Amino acid sequence: MSTAKTTVAVTGATGQVGSATVRCLAQQFPDIRVRAGVRNKQKATMLQNLGPSVEVVQFDTAIPETLTKAFTGANVACIIPPNGPNRIDHTIAMMTAAKKCEVKHVVMVFGPVDRMPKGSLMLKEVAPAEVSDASISDVLFSL
Ligand SMILES: NC(=O)c1ccc[n+]([C@@H]2O[C@H](COP(=O)([O-])OP(=O)(O)OC[C@H]3O[C@@H](n4cnc5c(N)ncnc54)[C@H](OP(=O)(O)O)[C@@H]3O)[C@@H](O)[C@H]2O)c1
Repeated sequence: MSTAKTTVAVTGATGQVGSATVRCLAQQFPDIRVRAGVRNKQKATMLQNLGPSVEVVQFDTAIPETLTKAFTGANVACIIPPNGPNRIDHTIAMMTAAKKCEVKHVVMVFGPVDRMPKGSLMLKEVAPAEVSDASISDVLFSL
């Protein structure tokens, strides 16, 4: 894939994984536009200082219209689920928004499967375009 004018949206960009992802993309791929999705802009000073290729946008998985803003025009979505009990709901909300915004490639980050308790819900590796509205629950499976 050509990196020219590619836009990568990264969620959870103030977190450990998200901030490292944004920093790596900005420093190693200066031709890529990186959209750093953050819940709290006050935590985003480090991201804003990475240079002109990084655009910080505010989003909250509980507010669908902000998710649309985060993903519109992105070629790639790097979906980094937050930790916590509602992480699957947060992730489905982000997957649904990425699909609505016709993002072509999705990179999903999760913890090591062998450390997940049995019965945990996981997400299959699917592109949003392959998930119909009627079957969004099909992206989930149990360990
Ligand atoms: N850290 C690791 O070494 C590691 C290794 C493998 C896998 N993972 C996986 O990677 C994922 C992220 O881990 P992490 O360590 O980066 O977590 P983290 O540091 O806690 O970051 C979580 C991010 O999610 C954001 N967030 C939380 N709730 C949100 C909401 N409602 N709307 C929008 N953003 C929200 C947080 O924003 P705020 O700053 O506003 O809270 C933060 O930016 C997890 O699924 C974890 O299992 C982590």
